[in-house]
Order: sequence, then structure tokens, then C-alpha cells
Amino acid sequence: MPRLPASYAVWMGHIPTPAEAQAKYAVDEVRHVDELAAVLAELAAPCLHLTPLLFPNPCHACSGLPMPPVMFEGIENFTLETQALYPVLSECRVFKSPLELRIMRYACRAASEAHVEVMRAVQPGVWEFQGESLYLHTLYSRGGCRGAHYTPIFASGPNAAILHYGHAGAPNSRQMRAGELLLVDAGAEYYRYAADITCTFPTTGSFTPDQALVYNAVLAANRGVIAAMKPGVRWPDMQLLAERTILSALLAGGLLRGEVEAMVEARLGAVFMPHGLGHFLGLDTHDVGGYLPGHPERPAAAGLARLRTARVLEEGMVITVEPGCYFSRALLEPAFGDEQLGRFLVEERVRQFMDFGGVRIEDDVVVTADGAESMCDVPRSIEEVEAVMAGAPWPPPA
Ligand code: GLY
Ligand code: MN
Ligand code: MN
Repeated sequence: MPRLPASYAVWMGHIPTPAEAQAKYAVDEVRHVDELAAVLAELAAPCLHLTPLLFPNPCHACSGLPMPPVMFEGIENFTLETQALYPVLSECRVFKSPLELRIMRYACRAASEAHVEVMRAVQPGVWEFQGESLYLHTLYSRGGCRGAHYTPIFASGPNAAILHYGHAGAPNSRQMRAGELLLVDAGAEYYRYAADITCTFPTTGSFTPDQALVYNAVLAANRGVIAAMKPGVRWPDMQLLAERTILSALLAGGLLRGEVEAMVEARLGAVFMPHGLGHFLGLDTHDVGGYLPGHPERPAAAGLARLRTARVLEEGMVITVEPGCYFSRALLEPAFGDEQLGRFLVEERVRQFMDFGGVRIEDDVVVTADGAESMCDVPRSIEEVEAVMAGAPWPPPA
């Protein structure tokens, strides 16, 4: 720990002693950083194994940006090794212990309750940030959380097609209108562990036929993937399953023409779902361990290349299942003119959806010995969503 000047206490309160820090963090020994070189020299360690800081940097795993190296006075007197620890620590984080799962189940419950509260309150005329405010208030006041792990995404109407809407430059600042969907992607933080849940529902409380078409396509993908997940399953195969399910529903709804397998082959799925199906979840929202040595490398194909892991599922992993279907001008306009993709699109019908936005349905799922289980508890079927928005209790009485 850093040796802080006594004046620090005026601004920040009591400065913990090393003994207090040792008791709090349950570690073997605590020393001040200015003692580090002497203490390590005494131990005569042949080599120091260092890792880039795993915390706090929610995006290091995906940004590829270099992490600051560990530094202390006298470090130049030691042999340093920086490659060995990172994959080992990351692998530890991929598999959750029973105690970690208990915390994550709680985070999911707290987030689920806040989602339900928002569902009850939304109506045309409400501003996106007012939904965000109610979400955070419920998460803090009822759930006892001190953070949401990432800026909540409250995306109404066309904004729902912007995958990370709500972050800087796109600040949840639109007023919701009747006839639109609201996409709420909002999580929780409890003992630093994350929940990451998305619900999508109509501002008026009842789905139009077109909204129901897209919603049920995405729900079928979400439920179909969770039902198919178990140890031994390749994660990219789950993305393809989600794509097939969504494309089949769009075909049945008259937005597409042709063979679903040919669409998958041409990577049409990536036009409607340009992100990966899901990511490891834990101490980071997009948690580490997705592409470690000894595991499959990132796929190259459109859409699949966005996957944050291509691993084979194993018991104890926690991964999000978040299929989506979006109508993004930035992707559809080029696709209409594309030789490979345009032939599948019924342009006139697809253009009716240009301001639709999109649907995402995101669950946090733990892989069990013989299957998988969602830790979320929110209304999912159209009947459930409409009932809760009309005032029905959730969970429904047994
Ligand atoms: N909320 C970010 C994500 O779903 O990955
Ligand atoms: Mn999310
Ligand atoms: Mn997610």
C-alpha cells in the first residue's frame, strides 16, 4: 500500500495501517510500497511474475490497449516475467465458485427487480433518462447495490438500433413516443460482480403485430440457445443457432426470401445481429478469458468475428445470452445493393422497419453439469410483459 502523508486524513479520513489492511483484505502480509524492494530482496526470489493490472479497466480484454506496467522504486534490480500470470488469472475468472455464483445470483435478482420497476412505469412521454433514474434508484434503494457496472442503455424507437446507445455522446435524452419499443440494457454491481440484463418492451404496454414478430424471433433465439447450452457445446455454434432462428422468423414474416442455410452462409445474420451472441460475465461486464492460449481463436466470418469468445462451454462458466435483431440504416443500405446479401431482402417490407430500432433480450446464464440456467427473473413472453405493464405482480403468484 502507498505510504500516505498524515495530511491525507484531513481530506479522505482515517489512513488504514498495514495491519488494518491485512485484516480487511485477508492477505498474508501488507507492507508499504517503499519497502517492496527490500522485502523482495530478503525473499531472494529469482524472478518476479507481473501481470498488467486486471482492475479497473472494463475494456482491456476487448480494446487491445496496453496496460500500464507495475512500477516501484528498485524494480530494475529484479528479473521480471510478464507473460505467465495473465492467462492463469484469467482462467481462474472464467470459472465461478459456489460463493461467486451466490453473489452473481443476487446481482441478477437486484437488476431483475429494477427492470420490472421500469417496465411498470414506462409510458409514452417519459424521457429515457427518467427511466434510467428509476432503474438506478431501485437498484440502489431496494437492491443495496452501489453501481450498475456500466452506463444503462435506455434506447427508445430508432435509438435501439445503436448497440451501445446511452454512453458518452448519446446520453439517454430522447422522449419516448407511443408505438415504439424501449430497449433497456442495464446491469448491477454487487461486491464488484456484474449483472448484465436487457429487456425490450412497447412504450404503450402492448405489442403491435410487427413488434411481436421481431420480439418473438429474438425470444425464440434466446430461449433456444439457453436450452441447447451444456458442457461440450461450441459457443460459435450457439451464435449460428440464434441467427438461424431469427432469420427463419423474418422469412416467415415476409422480410426475407430464399433458403435460411444460404442466408447463414452469406452471413446475412450479421446484418440483423452485428454483435456477438454473448460474453463471459464476472468481475468485468465483458469478462476476461475469451481468447486464451490453448482455446479456439477468434473466427474470421462477419458477425462471428465479433464474438468475445469462441470457447467450448464448461460447467461453472457464466456467459450472457443476448441475441438481437436491429434495423440499422448503416448496415441495411449497403446490404440492399450487395450482390450476396441483397437477393435475400424483400426491400419494400424491410424499409417499413427502418425506424423500428431493434430488440435485444439478454440473460445471464450459468453452465451446469448437464445444461444451463438463467439467473435472471424478468417477464419474457409477450403475455408476461403485457401483464406486468398493466399492473400484474411479478413474479406471478404461484
Ligand atoms: N451492456 C453491454 C453488453 O450487453 O454487452
Ligand atoms: Mn447488456
Ligand atoms: Mn452483455
